[in-house]
Amino acid sequence: MSINRRDWIRQSLLASATMLVAGPHIAQGCASERPPKLQGKDDFILLNWNENPYGPSDTAIQAVNDAMKYANRYPDEQINELKEKLAAKNGLKPANFLLTAGSTEVLSLLGQHVGLQKGEILTPYPTFPTALRFGERAGASIKKVKLDANDRIDLDQTLDAISDKTTLVFICNPNNPTGTELPTDDLKTFCRKVPENVLICVDEAYVEYSNAGLKGSMISLVNELPNLVICRTFSKAYGLAGLRMGYAVSNVRNIQALRDRHLGAEISTGWPPLVAANASLDDPEFINKCVTKNAEGKQIVYDAYDKWGVKYNPSSTNFIYARQERFENDLVAKMRNKGILITKWPDMTDHIRVSISKPEHMRKFVEVVEEFLV
Ligand SMILES: Cc1ncc(COP(=O)(O)O)c(C=O)c1O
Repeated sequence: MSINRRDWIRQSLLASATMLVAGPHIAQGCASERPPKLQGKDDFILLNWNENPYGPSDTAIQAVNDAMKYANRYPDEQINELKEKLAAKNGLKPANFLLTAGSTEVLSLLGQHVGLQKGEILTPYPTFPTALRFGERAGASIKKVKLDANDRIDLDQTLDAISDKTTLVFICNPNNPTGTELPTDDLKTFCRKVPENVLICVDEAYVEYSNAGLKGSMISLVNELPNLVICRTFSKAYGLAGLRMGYAVSNVRNIQALRDRHLGAEISTGWPPLVAANASLDDPEFINKCVTKNAEGKQIVYDAYDKWGVKYNPSSTNFIYARQERFENDLVAKMRNKGILITKWPDMTDHIRVSISKPEHMRKFVEVVEEFLV
């Protein structure tokens, strides 16, 4: 299936209404709190939203500062430049890309696409829920496939669960909240086996942190599979969460259909996120540094969890998902009282998710959470 432009335009008003009632924190999949005021952030150690504590890079900051004097101009050229750079890096055409204000916009567009045709989203679960939520609100049904006994996505079960009702298969790789990564070849084989009349969305928000790195991306299949949409973001390893920059990669027809429906008409991003993203792509050293420091932070938590017998899967991301059983109940609230924000998926109450910040923050996390061991 490719995405039908005509239906989308007709139903766009309904979709806008759906978004208006959806609430301000729609992107968040998790039951964690945010300090209410900006200045409050410094009082908390933020291990709840998988942000990059090292970003933005100096190059990105410089690019934003330099660009501010042009903020009176629409950023058409900058949109084209970024798409050209992404295209060149991935062996595709600029027309294969849609730039959005964070990948949340891509996920919401896809969710609505399915919902408005009363279709079905099939997904291994737990996973990042934005596409599911937007889909459900617009009328989609959601079919969840359980993870295996080791909290890993089971691609065989997912393939078996595809039926004539399935409109879209959503795979987050590496997966949020579990942090696990699928072997690249297994995921490629899976994508090739999904029937052409079923859309596949692969959300690669954390691909830069994964063991396979960018080689694990499914972007190499975009020219081969007309039903594949990849969703990427500059919010994580690039450290630009607050600037809002993400993108979709797919065949030209799907990208056109997504753009027709995009409420911001592809200019929901402005000069600062565009130039910051563009500059960041030329700064692989920054990403390497962040990935290395992230591994250091993860090791601090692994060592403590191993010592205490806390069960977890090694993470291919900047967060660690662990069983809660070794800790007291209400751990999220107790940690908050101590100034450390962590997360629990609302319907996965037997697990906690801890984002990785700087090593000193992770040492503090270990020191504080030890008080709540049972
Ligand atoms: C898997 C995944 N996809 C997408 C997003 C949305 O990120 P953004 O809208 O900042 O690009 C997140 C944010 O946490 C995420 O974890």
